[in-house]
Amino acid sequence: MIPKEKPIHKTKLHGRKKSRSSGIENDLILKNIFPKYKLRLNKQLINSYKNKAIELEVGFGFGEHIFHQAENNKNKKFIGVEPFLSGIISLVKKIDEKKITNIQIYNGNAIDVIDAMQEFSLGAIYILFPDPWPKKKHHKRRLISKYNLDKFSKVLKKGGKLFIATDHMEYQYWILKNLLNHSDFRWICSDSDDFKLKPYPYPETKYEKKALSNKRVPIYLNFEKK
Ligand SMILES: C[S@@+](CC[C@H](N)C(=O)[O-])C[C@H]1O[C@@H](n2cnc3c(N)ncnc32)[C@H](O)[C@@H]1O
Repeated sequence: MIPKEKPIHKTKLHGRKKSRSSGIENDLILKNIFPKYKLRLNKQLINSYKNKAIELEVGFGFGEHIFHQAENNKNKKFIGVEPFLSGIISLVKKIDEKKITNIQIYNGNAIDVIDAMQEFSLGAIYILFPDPWPKKKHHKRRLISKYNLDKFSKVLKKGGKLFIATDHMEYQYWILKNLLNHSDFRWICSDSDDFKLKPYPYPETKYEKKALSNKRVPIYLNFEKK
């Protein structure tokens, strides 16, 4: 039985949003370059993407994964969401330098982006190393919850993928329990070892590196929308 959770208010965000130090260069990036890639939540969001495969990364951190995906999948559009400004600056710098045109970035809560989307519009949702909020009193802040899975399911196409990586032992069970109890998702797991391996190659993210250097073993969970 999954414990009953109160839904998180959609715009409530926990955790750090600003880096401790900023600088003139970063301010200029935010003011002059970020607007070129900035996603605005309006009807145009989906209409402008109508015939493209769209994939969403929730909490991209410093953007290692979304950058790699966008660079290697030019036929797809990627939406990256991150409340933390240092991460936004880091990704904006990279995509501007490499002239990547298939990423749009939203600075805020991914749930707000999902709420602004039409049903069945996404081919994939990626959530790499979501904050585990280990204290019991903070479990209600976890991104993976029945409430949010319902929202993910609504915007994923049939056959769309939900990819979650985590190195936190208790959160692994929480995630699996929530997903296995959700009637809209199927766990794609071909043998007893495949969750130990990345399903496709991409550079280590900051939190993946952190886990590995602290001898924590990440697991990679792949689900499909039924
Ligand atoms: C532990 S970090 C992992 C960052 C990155 N994915 C990695 O693997 O290095 C979790 C990230 O999720 C972001 N985050 C938390 N809640 C979010 C939400 N509701 N929408 C978008 N991003 C969120 C945080 O700001 C943070 O950068």
